[in-house]
This record gives sequence, C-alpha cells and structure tokens, in this order.
Amino acid sequence: MVKIGIIGFGVVGSGVYEVIRKNKESIARKSGDEIDIKYILDIRDFSSHEESHLFVNNFDRMVADDEISIIVETMGGLDPAYEYTKRALSCGKSVVTSNKELVATYGDELLKIAYDNGCSYLFEASVGGGIPIIRPLNQCLAANEIGGITGILNGTTNYILTQMIKDGQSFEEALKDAQDLGYAERNPSADVDGHDACRKICILTSLATGKKIEYKKVYTEGITNITLRNVEYAGKLGYVIKLIGMSRVCDSGKVNVMVAPMMILKEHPLASVEGVNNAIMVDGNAIGSAMFYGPGAGKLPTASAVVADVIDIAKNRGSENRLLWVKADGEVIIPQDESQFKYFVRVGAPYAEAKAQIREVFGECTCIDLYEDEFGFVTNEIAEGDLKAKFASLSYKVIDFTRIL
Ligand code: HSE
Repeated sequence: MVKIGIIGFGVVGSGVYEVIRKNKESIARKSGDEIDIKYILDIRDFSSHEESHLFVNNFDRMVADDEISIIVETMGGLDPAYEYTKRALSCGKSVVTSNKELVATYGDELLKIAYDNGCSYLFEASVGGGIPIIRPLNQCLAANEIGGITGILNGTTNYILTQMIKDGQSFEEALKDAQDLGYAERNPSADVDGHDACRKICILTSLATGKKIEYKKVYTEGITNITLRNVEYAGKLGYVIKLIGMSRVCDSGKVNVMVAPMMILKEHPLASVEGVNNAIMVDGNAIGSAMFYGPGAGKLPTASAVVADVIDIAKNRGSENRLLWVKADGEVIIPQDESQFKYFVRVGAPYAEAKAQIREVFGECTCIDLYEDEFGFVTNEIAEGDLKAKFASLSYKVIDFTRIL
C-alpha cells in the first residue's frame, strides 16, 4: 500500500481525490500497489465532507508520518508550498505538483534536494493541464536535441481569443465568461498578462536545455491590448491571433524565449486549437515536429496528470534519479531586440497620407486599409531592435505591432 497526503484541496486537489477514488482498481493495477490517501491538508473546514476524517490542518503531522511516501502539492503559489515541498523532499518523501509558479521559480533547487534525498519531484500537471508533455519531452524525446518549442500554453487566454475571433466578443466580455467558467486563475492577471504561459514555457525550455530559464528575464506580453480591430485585420490577412509561448535554441547555444500574442496562418496546426485547449509543438533533430494537444486546464484533466505522476513514483520506487536542470553559468536568454520576425504594424493615420513614407522606410509591403483613421502593413523579417529604430524615423504614430509566427 502506498500512502499519500494531499496538500491543498482546491480545484486540482479535490480532482486528485476524485480520480483516485473513481479509478481505484485500475490505478492499483498500473501502480502495482494500492494508492491510499491518508491525509488531506487544507485550512478550510471540511467537517461535512464524506471523508472528513482525512482532513488535517497541520503539515507537521503529515511530514513526520513515516507511512507517507508521496505528497501531492496542489496549493499553488510560493508560500507555503515552497517550504512544505523542501521539507517533504528533505525527508525523502517524493512530491508531485501542479504548481507551475513553484516549479518555474525553484525547480532547480527542489530537483536537487529530491536527487540528494533519493526521492522524486514530478510536475507533469504544471504545463498543459492534462496533456502529457513533461514526460514525453524528458523521456520519449530524450534522443533528440530540442531546437524549438512553440505552444498555446494558457487555456483562459485561448478561450478569450477564440470568443473574440469566433463570436466577436470584446476582451472584457470574454474574460468574464472565462471567469464564470472557472478557467481563469484567482488573479486573472496571471493569465491575461501572460505570466502563466511564461512560467510554462520556462519549465519546458529548462527541461529541453537542462539550463534554468529565469522567467523574470523572459519577454512577456499578454492579450489585454488585443482589440476586435486586431482580430479583424488578422482575419482579413488569413491569420488568427493566439497567445504563443515559444523558445528557439540559437547557434550560440543561447535561447530566444518569449510570450506574446502572435498572428499565425489559419492553416498552421496551432490555429485550429480553440477554447480552453492547449497545444505544444516540439521540434527535435530526430523526430522533426511533434504536436501535443488537449485540455490545458480544468479539474479532472489536471488531476489526471497529477495522479499519473503518483503512479509513476509508486511503480518505479528505487529508481528516483532525475536531475532535470540546473542554474546556468552566464546569460542564457538572448535580448528581445535580437529576435527576428515579420510583423503586422498598425499606423494611426489615413493610408493615403502615410503610404509613401511607409514604403520609403519599409520598402514594398502588403498594406491593409480597413478604417478611416488607421491602416496596417506587414514588414519583411527583421530584428525587433531594427523595427523599433524604423518606427522612430516615422512621422506617424504606430498604434501597435504583432509578431507573425
Ligand atoms: N489558468 C490556467 C490556464 C490553468 O488558463 O491555462 C492551467 O494552468
């Protein structure tokens, strides 16, 4: 019998409980042993829960119990999840988590503590909700050098953009729907400002390169400035707008990593990923391109990934040795101004008035003239720093620009 404790009985924690209860027999068969929940830690009152005897409000009891070999951390946030995780791993108890903020911030340190103490720190659920991506990247694609990762990594923003594209909803209307449906994080800024997607691309890139990617250094732009005009321009040019997290390993070994809304061709495989779904394309030098697709958020999909990690630990006891990434010496990320794209640029002036200057500065380019007070054009591929230098030489206001994938 493998006894586990769950810390944090919110959406994901209660999903873990539900999946373990619902699939008890098949989980026991796959683990080679029965998985038994011994404690659930939550500061709220669950005295009317049908298994209220499992609830405790003191972590000390759980971590001191020698019978507990795995702790499921579904609290979210850094405090107290970081302290609890360190204590559990230091005692040789494996920890499974869905907490991307913790993995992105302290993953290197926590993996090292697990390694030193002969236990595991697993986090399949931290990226892509129910989609298997951490284990495929780490095991099934282990023969590859990974050159790039491109993904729709946040379900809330993908839902919002889908509503804007398909139903013409405004950003505010679509955000409210996403909150009512329970997709958005407690603080919607984590989703709509791109921080959640940033943590996820950092985890994937750290895993792919073996070097810690510090998410605070990664260029991150959310979707709060995307309007129905942006969506309409994109549609007329044959694109959709998606919030993309991407990383590319450069020849220098450094990485171009960023999160931003991007225009992608309607024929691109990521363009058809709608609603709360996520998808991740991984480019490997043996496999080529592989795409992982599925529900990127939600109670049971995320719990599915957490419980799979629990099963993995139960099944592979004695073979815990996974040091996945470490802090790198020197800078790993290339400056954002060096990243190269084609761009769609909106100019706040009538087309007839500004077109001559745009041609002079940017050369021949595709222009689109939909509104009286502005127009848009597509640039050739240039570095972002050069793009901004060209903007500075214009006598017209640039409203915004969108990278084209
Ligand atoms: N708020 C996140 C999302 C949940 O919308 O993708 C899953 O990490």
